[in-house]
Order: sequence, then C-alpha cells, then structure tokens
Amino acid sequence: MNPDIRSAIDFYERHPISCEIILARLEASRGHLDGLEPEELFPHDQDHYGGLAANDALAEHAHIGEGTRVADFCAGLGGPARYLAHRYGADVTGIELTPARVKGAQELTRRVGLQDRVRIVEGNVMQVPLADASVDVVVSQEALLHVPDKRRALAQARRILKRGGRIAFTDWVAHRPLSAADRELMWQGMAVTELYTLPAYAELVRDAGFAVASVEDLTREWGAILTQRLAMYRKLREETRAAGTPAGHDAFYESYVRFVDLVKAGHLGGGRLVGVKAE
Ligand SMILES: C[S@@+](CC[C@H](N)C(=O)[O-])C[C@H]1O[C@@H](n2cnc3c(N)ncnc32)[C@H](O)[C@@H]1O
Repeated sequence: MNPDIRSAIDFYERHPISCEIILARLEASRGHLDGLEPEELFPHDQDHYGGLAANDALAEHAHIGEGTRVADFCAGLGGPARYLAHRYGADVTGIELTPARVKGAQELTRRVGLQDRVRIVEGNVMQVPLADASVDVVVSQEALLHVPDKRRALAQARRILKRGGRIAFTDWVAHRPLSAADRELMWQGMAVTELYTLPAYAELVRDAGFAVASVEDLTREWGAILTQRLAMYRKLREETRAAGTPAGHDAFYESYVRFVDLVKAGHLGGGRLVGVKAE
C-alpha cells in the first residue's frame, strides 16, 4: 500500500471524533438511541469547516436537487452525504478510505434510516469504484489535502461524471510555500500531503478537463472557525488526557495549533473550487 495512504488511514483510525463517540454523546443527552433523526447527527458528524452552510454552498454551486446523483469524495462519517440526501433529496455515494469510518458512516446512516439514498463505499479516490459517466456531481470537503496525487483524483472525478456534470469542493491551500519543518509537522500530525496555491489548484482542475466555474478564497472565513475548533480540540485533549491519551494525539494537537497560526498569518488557508465537465 502507498505509505501516504497508510498515514491517512492511521490518522483517521485514531481521530478524536468517531461514530462511537457521537452515539455515546447522543445516548447521554437523550437517554436512548431509538428513532434518531438526521438533524440530531448534524451537530456532530460534519468533519469540515463551516458546518451545514458549507454543504449548502457546495449544493448551490453544483446545482444539487431532488434525485441528483452525487459522489462524495472522502466522505468521512457520512455527515455531508446524509445532509445532501435529507435536505435536497440527492442520491449520494460516499467514497471513503478508512475502514473504521466506512463502518461508522454506514452505522450512522442506518440509525437515521437514510440507507436507501446514501451508500458509503470503501475506496480510494485515486481509483474510484464507480462506473464511467455514472454521476451528476462530485463533491468533497477538506480531504484532498490527504491525497498524494490530486491530479489523479480529479481525473477520476471527470471519468465518473456525466457530460455537463459538476465538481465542487473545498480544500486546504498554501498561499506561500511551507518551511520544511512545517511540512513535516503537518505530515506527522495530520497526514497532510502536497498543497497548492489557489491559482495552481485552479490550473490543476482545468488540466483535468474541467471548465473552471469559480474559485473562492475561504481563508478569512476559516480563521474564525478554526479558533473555535481549536478550543474544542483543547477540551477534547483534556478529556482524552484524563482517560489516557491515545497514541498520536499529541502530534495531532501540536500540528493543529501550528495550522491555526499559519492560517491566521495567511500562509495556509482554504479554497472552494467549482468545475464543469465540458464534454
Ligand atoms: C477531514 S475528513 C472529511 C470528511 C467529510 N468530507 C466531511 O466533511 O465530514 C477527511 C476524510 O478523507 C478520507 N480520505 C483520506 N484520503 C482518502 C483517499 N485517498 N480516498 C478516500 N478517502 C480518503 C479520510 O479517511 C477522512 O475520513
């Protein structure tokens, strides 16, 4: 297995938020897990910046509506996939690399009764297990940063999209080159692979055979969100310390603190890109 892929799996196998933790929290607050509604999961299952509003932005850019066939690249615990199915009536297939997250996503989807419209499939977005021209839209949020060959993932998106189909995604971008020490910290702590500037990312989308419909810089927006996230991770760190810190958590925390500093300094940031498969 490609070592870059292995690192992403290792990172997400020990991620502080899991299906078990979400269900334990819900059980503690409501007393039981019977009759869970999708809305009850949404405060817990969105592993990207900007929560549900970020999904709405992608849905709008990609023209997602009733019956739209969507592939969600790097679907995580399936939060965005369930939201797009529940709120817009889309039919969503999530592609997710980490087996524990696939299992967790399937369990959460079953618990809220969305399994007819949401499938989470174990797979690698560099080799997507879907047929050519089989979907209307590809979405992805804050995940391609882990993918060592983004060019290949974009080519896979183009392959599975029908003509006129759209890709809409958010990802980390590097406005300035990172120092070798920061690159190593991000890699060791969060399995971050090569990052692009926003113009270079747009070029990559174009090279993959898309007409670029829009490119937005989300860095300022993310700065505020990340400060809140860091506070949440600080709290989680205290909880995990009390329960015995799992391996890798310190490296994650250290790299996250540095990541937030780099975003605030404008060296790292986020972007939302939208492309249309012209032919
Ligand atoms: C930050 S999470 C985002 C999850 C989801 N997009 C969301 O917004 O809730 C990144 C996810 O990408 C997955 N991932 C990383 N590399 C991948 C790859 N090559 N193919 C498929 N999934 C991948 C990880 O396992 C992880 O679940």
